[in-house]
Amino acid sequence: MRVTSVIRFVVLLITLLGTWFIVQTYFDRTWKVVSLRSWLGATNNPSSKQLPRYECGNQKSCPQNHFAFKIISGAANVVGPSICFNNIVIMSSVKNNVGRGLNIALVNGTSGQLLKANTFDMYSGDINILDTFLQEIKHGTFVLAASYDDAATKMNDKIRAHFVELGSSHVSNLGFRDNWIFLGAKGLKNKSPFEVHIKNDKNTNKYDGWPELLEMEGCAPRKTD
Ligand SMILES: *[C@@H]1O[C@H](CO)[C@@H](O)[C@H](O)[C@H]1NC(C)=O
Repeated sequence: MRVTSVIRFVVLLITLLGTWFIVQTYFDRTWKVVSLRSWLGATNNPSSKQLPRYECGNQKSCPQNHFAFKIISGAANVVGPSICFNNIVIMSSVKNNVGRGLNIALVNGTSGQLLKANTFDMYSGDINILDTFLQEIKHGTFVLAASYDDAATKMNDKIRAHFVELGSSHVSNLGFRDNWIFLGAKGLKNKSPFEVHIKNDKNTNKYDGWPELLEMEGCAPRKTD
């Protein structure tokens, strides 16, 4: 009887240990599979790998009553600038309507409709043409500008004053072969938040005689008054 009890005890012990071992291993493995799956899920999720692109290829969507825009300056004297507004590329090398100097698009601030897209040679062009162009801009019009190569040689105080009136803070410092991108509007009460300027400085230039290209995207509030 004693021997039988000992054997029973040993068998029970082995069964319990075996069960514990199997259960422990099973749950351990299940846990690993689950965590591996969620880990794979997190990195394979297309929305985390590839951000959705919004209007103009921008990284953020725009709220209602705003126009998405993206402005890219020229790169050295090699690659032309591009201006996208309301998901339409209105000026680019592909459209063949950009040139060295200042590239300016005028857009109706209420409807978003393109009014004019002109390029002004700021190195050897007639600056009075730009002066007249800026003078005639009507209240509530968006002005989108992108430099290409040199946008400053023919710049004068009259032209600078026009851009200051459109909301520019940097036009007064614009120098030879600086890059400058800007979105302003006629009748703006404050300075425009949409402006980037980089100086041509041989110590910091990305290219030999030019700074790196500039890129800016954002949402311009529709004009209602
Ligand atoms: C802009 O668009 C609005 C609405 O379509 C129109 O009433 C207005 O006359 C336009 N302004 C200009 C300057 O084109």
